[in-house]
Amino acid sequence: MKTIIEPFRIKSVEPIRMTTRAERETKLKLAHYNLFGLASDDVLIDLLTDSGTGAMSAEQWAAIMRGDESYAGSPSFARFEAAVQNLMPFKHIIPTHQGRAAEAILFGLLGGAGKRIPSNTHFDTTRGNIEASGALAFDLNIGEGRDSQSMHPFKGNMDLEKLAAFLQEHGDNVPCVMLTITNNAGGGQPVSLENIRAVAALARAHGHPFIIDGCRFAENAWFIKQREPGQENSAITDIVRECFAVADGMTMSAKKDAFGNIGGWLALNDDDLAEAARVRLIQTEGFVTYGGLAGRDLEAIAQGLSEIIDEDYLRYRIGTNQYIIDRLDLLGVPVVKPAGGHAVFIDARAWLPHIDPLQYPAQALANRLYEISGIRGVEIGSLMFGRQPDGSEKPAAMELVRLAIPRRTYTQSHADYLIEAFEMLKAEKDSLRGLKVVKEPRLMRHFTCRLAPL
Ligand code: F0G
Repeated sequence: MKTIIEPFRIKSVEPIRMTTRAERETKLKLAHYNLFGLASDDVLIDLLTDSGTGAMSAEQWAAIMRGDESYAGSPSFARFEAAVQNLMPFKHIIPTHQGRAAEAILFGLLGGAGKRIPSNTHFDTTRGNIEASGALAFDLNIGEGRDSQSMHPFKGNMDLEKLAAFLQEHGDNVPCVMLTITNNAGGGQPVSLENIRAVAALARAHGHPFIIDGCRFAENAWFIKQREPGQENSAITDIVRECFAVADGMTMSAKKDAFGNIGGWLALNDDDLAEAARVRLIQTEGFVTYGGLAGRDLEAIAQGLSEIIDEDYLRYRIGTNQYIIDRLDLLGVPVVKPAGGHAVFIDARAWLPHIDPLQYPAQALANRLYEISGIRGVEIGSLMFGRQPDGSEKPAAMELVRLAIPRRTYTQSHADYLIEAFEMLKAEKDSLRGLKVVKEPRLMRHFTCRLAPL
């Protein structure tokens, strides 16, 4: 059969409140043309993020009832720890309330003024936590990763030559080498097993720990199985284990590839570093057997980890993105290719060349998409990245709209509705105008700024 079906039935539903275009135009105006300002009740299909927004399975809900809320030594922690170690063979598993808390603890220990931390592309919160410690974050992604039309199978790869030169130049000022799988900020593009091993070997040769940001590890493993020569017959579980076997630690947001609504962890092999991390954990998150989580969250994550590596799920998951991308491509919409793991990215600079980057073409596009269809995406462009530390403004490297797909939440007809919305957008796009910012906070303006149409 060619048709890829959702590999689940629906047991419990959440109604979507239908709205009209006129109603949405008013809501958007009241939200000052910032999609973060909308009430989610006014959104039909919410593609703002794939983080914590997935549907839990019947088995996860059942596991929640087993949650043991003991302060110390809960059996829920034992199940969580065993589920993580089954896939990621690290010695120390330290639970946190979400990914950024793991980052804050790690870089609080490894960061500091003068330190320099390379990755393929640091996610915003990772960069934020590195910079908050006084250290500097560097993105050494291969060039193809910034070319929306390049068909390189592993656009998330680290540029090994650049990394080698970086490690040579900065020596002892590098406290660790990081790698984000998949590369979220670079379009959800995967990293090959070969590249993971090569980065690990370089880090080791220079005496630095190698840490993986593993948020979307299962999607990455699926791409390795599909695209990496010699891996087509490997089980997903084995690929995952191979990826983490060469690392010294990981940070994780369980809100992605663990089917959690909340949660994360920091994993480490080094005893001294783990001891220091646990001290910080107790100060800021909670005791070592729950981090910032309830026992029931630990149970939901443990169960989620056994479901995320299911090949039927992963085939459907990546197949959904591929389906949307193929159809948008046929319509002539410039989409980032090949399909990434968790989201569809639209190149607004290419589609709306009449809007200057500093008049935020991707925001204009995301806003009109909401007005037309009630679908909420997010701008990843000059509104998010344009403001410079010295107060000036400069265009971002790309002007993208990200449509992140929550896990197991929407169906084929939602995908078809999205495609139809783009048919309508195509007819209206030349009439779209840019926006100006009328009020913004000092940092991370895209979350709360107010905009007005030009
Ligand atoms: N690393 C990556 C690659 C991420 O995508 C995220 C979150 C984090 C770390 C932080 O994890 O949210 O649990 O603290 N990404 C979400 C997104 C927010 O929408 O892409 P967190």
